[in-house]
Amino acid sequence: MDNKTTMTLAVFGLGHVGLPTALGFADLGWNVIGVESDKIKAESIANGYVPFNEDGVEFLLRTHLRSKKFSVITDTKVAVEQANILFMCVATPSDENGSANISQLENLAFQLRDSISSYKIIIQKSTAPVNTAEKIRNILLEANLKNEIQSNEKLVDVVVIPEFLREGKAVDDFFNPHRIVIGLDDMNLKETIVELYRPLLKKIKKDESSTLVFMDTRSAEISKHAANAFLATKLSFINMISDLCAKVGANVDSVSRAIGMDPRIGADFLQAGIGYGGECLPKDLSAFIESGKDNGINFSMLEEVKKVNEDRVNVFIAKVLNHLDNLQDKTLAVWGLSFKPFTDDLRNSQSIKILHNLVAQKIKLRVYDPYAMDATKKLFKISDSITFAESPMDAAQSSNAILILTEWPQFSEQDFAKVFSVMKTPLIFDGRNMLNFDVLIANGFKYYGMGIG
Ligand code: UGA
Repeated sequence: MDNKTTMTLAVFGLGHVGLPTALGFADLGWNVIGVESDKIKAESIANGYVPFNEDGVEFLLRTHLRSKKFSVITDTKVAVEQANILFMCVATPSDENGSANISQLENLAFQLRDSISSYKIIIQKSTAPVNTAEKIRNILLEANLKNEIQSNEKLVDVVVIPEFLREGKAVDDFFNPHRIVIGLDDMNLKETIVELYRPLLKKIKKDESSTLVFMDTRSAEISKHAANAFLATKLSFINMISDLCAKVGANVDSVSRAIGMDPRIGADFLQAGIGYGGECLPKDLSAFIESGKDNGINFSMLEEVKKVNEDRVNVFIAKVLNHLDNLQDKTLAVWGLSFKPFTDDLRNSQSIKILHNLVAQKIKLRVYDPYAMDATKKLFKISDSITFAESPMDAAQSSNAILILTEWPQFSEQDFAKVFSVMKTPLIFDGRNMLNFDVLIANGFKYYGMGIG
């Protein structure tokens, strides 16, 4: 494709990655076709409703349905006919052994192969292990044979542009990327990809060299897994230190601050607590470990990272049991259910793991989350001893302790004198170390954080 050819984008898979990506590019002025095979989801999106919680996405969706920069269809063939840059944003869930299941990517590649009759750039955005682009390319190259093209010209190029968006902050991250990693095996494609990102670079007033990081496709695939594995490692590291702090009466938050001020270490992702959850960090860590094994490399260090995180749930529950004897006649308030704030996503939520443990012990719970109440109701039975509260204050009503399990900012903004007055006993177990210790003590609470002795 030369740079003068008008680019039309198609984004396959309109989930947490695909939809914000599609709408981000539409907002930058490109014509974007979203392709979603799930008819109900596609219909909802076409009507301006986002089927998951993600701040800012619905606004962009309605804006660009109106501007006609974005449209939704279910038919792969039609999208392939109309677009020349095809983004693969389908899910790569975990297999039972933890390795990434790339069958949705492969199936999409087969569908694309059967629809392609002119040159396309295929962009692999889904997180996938090293060498996946190679597999996709091999499937797609059969297009040359299938369509009996009589020329020697290439029909497809596969580029890897991994996604670094965070859930709940996807729109923000799209428009303010730390970097955009671009894996190419043919440097002739570079100018076309720069053209694709030119409107974004212009908007954020950055030049190409400070934002776009070019490399080969394998390095790009590894960069994504390595980034998430490193973030998980940082978290498990500080959580391991928090166990020592708890044991000896030190304060892990002070340690985090001290080490994080060194720019070689960095202050982000050093907040100790009940550990990380979500669809990405746990899944990608396991997939990376398996990818290491597949290539004969021992990633035992990452096995430990995983283990430290899994242990958090037990460490937290042991702390609660230690301070509240005979839990059976107690009521616990739970603040926070989603795996992190600003999402209703419960996948691999540490909070939900703790809830299941407490429910199995038949402990009475009053739970609250700003976004995730409906999603949580679907996970538990009516007979389970859970009351779904209307607010943090309502959850605290007549409870023996508050368990803070997700770091929603509104939890630290509560009127703690009032919280104190509605509780039976004033205990707070802060699984996210987010409350102000001095405010709580001044209000008469007993406060237990993670790694705060
Ligand atoms: C993560 C990465 O941060 C994104 O860069 C990446 O694109 C994404 O995975 C993905 O692969 O799609 P996300 O899963 O949305 O993003 O969540 P994070 O913001 O990374 O938080 C993960 C978990 O770490 C949460 O449970 C959060 O509560 C926990 N966390 C985070 C801490 O316990 N302490 C911290 O200091 C920071």
